[in-house]
Amino acid sequence: MADSPVSHHRAGGDPPEAPNSDASNEQRAQMEQAYQQMQRKMRISKMDEQIKHKIMVLSGKGGVGKSTVATGLALSLARQGKKVGLMDIDITGPNVPKMLGLEDADLNVEDGQIHPADGPNGLKVISMAFLLEDPDKPVIWRGPIKLGAIQQFIGDVAWGELDALIIDFPPGTSDEPLTVSQSLPGIDGVVIVTTPQEVALLDSRKSINFAKTISVPVLGVVENMSGYTLRGTSTPNSNISVMGPGGVPIESESDEEGKWEITLDVFKSGGVEESSKEMEVPFLGALPFDPGIVRGGDDGVHRIIADPEGETARAFESIVKKVQEQLDKGSQRTLRII
Ligand SMILES: Nc1ncnc2c1ncn2[C@@H]1O[C@H](COP(=O)(O)OP(=O)(O)OP(=O)(O)O)[C@@H](O)[C@H]1O
Ligand SMILES: [Mg+2]
Repeated sequence: MADSPVSHHRAGGDPPEAPNSDASNEQRAQMEQAYQQMQRKMRISKMDEQIKHKIMVLSGKGGVGKSTVATGLALSLARQGKKVGLMDIDITGPNVPKMLGLEDADLNVEDGQIHPADGPNGLKVISMAFLLEDPDKPVIWRGPIKLGAIQQFIGDVAWGELDALIIDFPPGTSDEPLTVSQSLPGIDGVVIVTTPQEVALLDSRKSINFAKTISVPVLGVVENMSGYTLRGTSTPNSNISVMGPGGVPIESESDEEGKWEITLDVFKSGGVEESSKEMEVPFLGALPFDPGIVRGGDDGVHRIIADPEGETARAFESIVKKVQEQLDKGSQRTLRII
């Protein structure tokens, strides 16, 4: 840190060895730490001005598609020409870089600040994975160390001006979202991801209550892995029957060209919209169950990039539109208060 007073002192030459040099070293380290903390605080308050919207993506249950949705929202917004940042705060399973093919990204550090990696559509990406030496080694950072790392992580990244920052979290209402909401001022709200199965829904209620507890608005709930659509061809205008979940046949008809499609509810359908109503939070839309999402995640090419006009990309566009409506409502509310 060239501009730190401590380094400045060093630039003039090390002080002569004193008998109590251990103590002075300790003092020096403390001063340096305090100085860095102050700088970090200043940068975080500047972030509030430089980043228009900050959105946290949460889920109660693991594996419901939080990282897929966070990445998709970010890419979809970036595709509209917005300046977008994506922050992956999952220390134990940071998989955003893999989803974007950025595992080997080289990060620049200048003036003590980390410069994010450049992703598709001009997306700026930062992930705990970039800071880990061995991606296969589990990270076991407990309590204060983990939270300290997150605070550093927030304050040490040079995002520059952004229209939106999307933050991906580990599952659950653990310390991470709490720490971020306390450290980063001006969070616009939370997007909650769930699958339509009962257990995931129950857990998403916890996320909604958690957001209320920390006084962060719920921008809405996304239903992920909704129906899976089978498509085929047959004799024009003929009856089609497919064995659905639980052995219940699902009937349909082919059109004049013989094309047909049937949507299977992999989990259940409609549950998320209903429970959003019950919990009085907006329903942002559903994403289909799309095997291309799994392939894309493994190949490092997100579905939105691989098939920008496809069903999944269009579903993301519609969800992003709803999120933007909520953000607009939020700013109107703020304006009214002022
Ligand atoms: N709509 C979808 N259709 C099919 N597969 C999906 C869909 N959404 C996510 N997946 C797949 O489900 C798996 C879990 O997704 P993802 O990593 O996004 O979940 P997560 O909630 O972030 O998980 P974790 O709780 O571990 O952070 C991945 O293999 C992903 O490709
Ligand atoms: Mg994840």
